[in-house]
Amino acid sequence: MQDHFSEYQVFTTEEKIFITSGSQQALSILSNMPFPNGKKNILVEQPTYRLMQDMTILNGNKLIGIKRNFHGIDLKELEKIFKQESIKFFYTIPRFHNPLGTSYSEKEKMKIVGLAQKYDVYIVEDDYFIDIETNRKALPLYYYDTSKKVIYIKSFSKTFMPGIRIGAVVLHDHLKDEFFEHKRCHDQSTSVLAQGALEIFINSGMYKNHVRKIQREYGKKMTCLREFLKNQSIEGIEYFVPPTGFFIWVKLPPELNVNTLARRLKEKNILILTAKEFLTVDHQDENSFRIAISHLLVDQIRCGLKTVFEEIRAYASQ
Ligand SMILES: Cc1ncc(COP(=O)(O)O)c(C=O)c1O
Repeated sequence: MQDHFSEYQVFTTEEKIFITSGSQQALSILSNMPFPNGKKNILVEQPTYRLMQDMTILNGNKLIGIKRNFHGIDLKELEKIFKQESIKFFYTIPRFHNPLGTSYSEKEKMKIVGLAQKYDVYIVEDDYFIDIETNRKALPLYYYDTSKKVIYIKSFSKTFMPGIRIGAVVLHDHLKDEFFEHKRCHDQSTSVLAQGALEIFINSGMYKNHVRKIQREYGKKMTCLREFLKNQSIEGIEYFVPPTGFFIWVKLPPELNVNTLARRLKEKNILILTAKEFLTVDHQDENSFRIAISHLLVDQIRCGLKTVFEEIRAYASQ
């Protein structure tokens, strides 16, 4: 595992790596356990991964939001929140953000890590799908951390097999005991059978081959999306298509209400997840929706997009 992580520029030692039952379990434990900074609340990007928010609220923790959009986050706002609020950790998805599809620049990552150090705030870096990264110059926040503030999480469920619930978290020494106690009480240990299967997959070189394959596949899917959207000229619509990834985020102009669009598409048996699914109660004003392409083949993506955009056009012309 230590060698595996070093290939992703996460340099650590074996004792600092904990295997969890999916990265979701790592997130759940971190949300619940006390942190050495003695602070209470969790800061999340808005929008962000839905289950992280649902789980945190369900567990009775207070969430604070900071807006993230196609251009990143307002670092001055981040500094203000770090300074004024009691933030235990900042949960961030630096690359292939769910749901935006965007990634932070290296400069932004360095700045975020610097602020965490300055204000004694931890960062939980959810690098859930680093495996599809093709830009070798894109480094994790963990790489820039010199003050032991970044906790790094990688999912194996996404790459290996969604049914096999495996994630891994890299913890600094001062967090290990507390995490271990919580993990033990959660499920004693992660399925050894699943871990054994993953070990064989990695050691035999199959994992690397598989990663190359999925990198190609997701690259193709995003190219398909990009090509399709290039030819859709609907005034006021904004979107960003990353080189690779799972998601894109489409922002509608104010005259096209995303909830109305969702209702109209539902009548055509197309379900879209609108912005409110990814936002906490304080940030409900986003007129956007997510397109996820992970389960679809290129032809299905084209076909689905065609119907969605025909409906947007029909709505706009009324
Ligand atoms: C951003 C993000 N983090 C974590 C997870 C959970 O991953 P796992 O299947 O490893 O629990 C997901 C699942 O979709 C996700 O989108």
